[in-house]
Parts: sequence; structure tokens; C-alpha cells
Amino acid sequence: MTTAAAATTMRLSSPFKAPPLRPPCHRVVPSRRGPGRAGLAVSAAAGGSPPTVLVTGAGGRTGQIVYKKLKEKADQFVARGLVRTPDSKSKIDGGDDVFIGDIRDPGSIAPAIDGIDALIILTSGVPKMKPGFDPSKGGRPEFYFEEGSDPEQVDWIGQKNQIDAAKSIGVKQIVLVGSMGGTDLNHPLNKLGNGNILVWKRKAEQYLADSGVPYTIIRAGGLQDKDGGVRELIVGKDDEILKTETKTIARADVAEVCIQALLFEEAKFKAFDLASKPEGEGTPTTDFKSVFAQIATRF
Ligand SMILES: NC(=O)c1ccc[n+]([C@@H]2O[C@H](COP(=O)([O-])OP(=O)(O)OC[C@H]3O[C@@H](n4cnc5c(N)ncnc54)[C@H](OP(=O)(O)O)[C@@H]3O)[C@@H](O)[C@H]2O)c1
Repeated sequence: MTTAAAATTMRLSSPFKAPPLRPPCHRVVPSRRGPGRAGLAVSAAAGGSPPTVLVTGAGGRTGQIVYKKLKEKADQFVARGLVRTPDSKSKIDGGDDVFIGDIRDPGSIAPAIDGIDALIILTSGVPKMKPGFDPSKGGRPEFYFEEGSDPEQVDWIGQKNQIDAAKSIGVKQIVLVGSMGGTDLNHPLNKLGNGNILVWKRKAEQYLADSGVPYTIIRAGGLQDKDGGVRELIVGKDDEILKTETKTIARADVAEVCIQALLFEEAKFKAFDLASKPEGEGTPTTDFKSVFAQIATRF
């Protein structure tokens, strides 16, 4: 990761470190019920061909984990990726199943969308650090968005373009990764580069929820580049998790939840906040059906 990217990650994560005020919401505990499946996996399990799943932002830090996981589950899914640049494509060793396109330009993403069964949206506006920041002098770095790549263009128009394109070809499910913090207009992330990023993300989430397409909206806590599958996941609503100490999650766990959401009917028409307990506390989550079943919020 570049210094700027690392600094950006650090800055983006920091608002999730506020002191605890309330206990966490639902903890995800193992279920006694069996791991019965439904969702997109049904057709493959019944002898049909596996569903084709496109992940956009496939060169991003979470998107590339999703793409890799889809490839590894070739018996369950036909993987596709969308990246913005040839560089991103080579970074993930993308073959013919990785398309290059810009989500702000509907025509450029149409070939990637054509024929898919499900879409996982992991594109996002990416703030850049202004040059000249010297950590040894204290203070805080400043950020900006490149012209035309501000959150209104990427996190709203770009996500909307994807939703419209997927809906037009009759996609069966859209999974959208957003961020916790969207209930607070004054959240520090909105001030980043004056981009109002959470406002625009929320607008896209609402658009998806109103689209009529089966959806799963995952509002992640502060993302960490750590191993997945070793923590107990916590789901919640309305940013309640942000008032606790457990408000981070590994990108690998977010990626797994994106894929599991395709496997269970219980994940459809749901929107939820997602974090995890620290490693070593609680029981690592394996029963994703129970996770989705306990979520009652549609938005
Ligand atoms: N950072 C956090 O702590 C945090 C917390 C909660 C939620 N989230 C959210 O979680 C999601 C995943 O985060 P992440 O850090 O894994 O993502 P990331 O590494 O920043 O990846 C974002 C991806 O979006 C792509 N993209 C941006 N503009 C595009 C465009 N116009 N056309 C096509 N692709 C475009 C980028 O492509 P390039 O590679 O070509 O630039 C990049 O691959 C994001 O929605 C993020 O906002 C982040």
C-alpha cells in the first residue's frame, strides 16, 4: 500500500474510534439450526449452471478479495470483475472475466453487466491526501477528490448506473457495500474533501432499496486488512454499533458476507451495519444464515 493510501485508510478509519456509549446491538451467535441454503446457489445445486456474479471495484482492497473468493468457489459461481484501469486488471491477474470500465459511463460497463445473475458493488470514491503533509510537524492531513471523481459522481451516479444496468437485464440480486455513519450528516467522513461521501452513499443505498431488485446493503465499520473467518460478527442498525468499542471489521470478513449474502434468501431485502468482536472474544461466525435471519431492517 502506498503511504498516501495508508494515510487515507488511517484517516478513514479514525472516526470509528469514538468512546463507547451503549452496548452493541445483536451479537451473532451460532445457531442450532442446520445451514439450509437457498438463494442463487439453488439453481447450481439443482444441476443448473452456476450463477454469474460480477464484483465491481474488483481491483480495490475488498473487491479483490471478493473476486478471489468467487474464483475459488468455481463450483458455485462464475466470477466476473469490473476494474477501472488495465493496471488494476493486471494487479488481480484478471483474464477474460475481468472487464475494464468506468461506472460513471453506463456504456462502458454494459458488457460487464450483460448476462450476470448477481452484482456485488464495491466501487467507492477514493479521497487523496493533499501533498505536503509532514506527520512530524503534527496536525492532520487534508484530502481531496480528483475532479469528476467526487462522491456525487462515484458513490451516487456511478452506483446508480450499476443498479440501473443490472436491473435492466433482470439481475436476481444486488449486494452493495456502504459504510456506517450515514445517519449522521455531521459525520467526519462527510467533511473529507468536502465530499459528503456518506450522504451520497446513502442516496445510492436508498435508490437500491427502492429499485424492486432483491438487495443486501452491508454498511461496514472501519475496514482492516486482517485475516477473515476468525472473529464473531456483529450486526446492527442505525449506526448503534458506532457508539460501542467494536466498530471495525476485516475486509476479508466483509468479502465473505458479500458472498454468503448470495446464498441465503434471509439476506434479501435487508440493510445492516457490520462489525466484529476482537479476535479471541466470542466464537468465529460460521452460520451466516442465522446472521441474516436475525436482521429485521429493510433500510
Ligand atoms: N475505509 C474504511 O474504513 C471503510 C469503512 C466502511 C466502509 N467502507 C467502504 O467499503 C467499501 C470498500 O472499501 P475498500 O477500502 O476496500 O475500497 P477501495 O480499496 O477504496 O476500492 C474502491 C474501488 O473503486 C474503484 N473505483 C473508483 N471509482 C471508479 C470508477 N469511476 N469506475 C470504476 N471503478 C471505480 C477503484 O478503482 P481503482 O482501483 O481503479 O481506483 C477501487 O478499486 C467502499 O465502499 C468504502 O467506502 C470503507
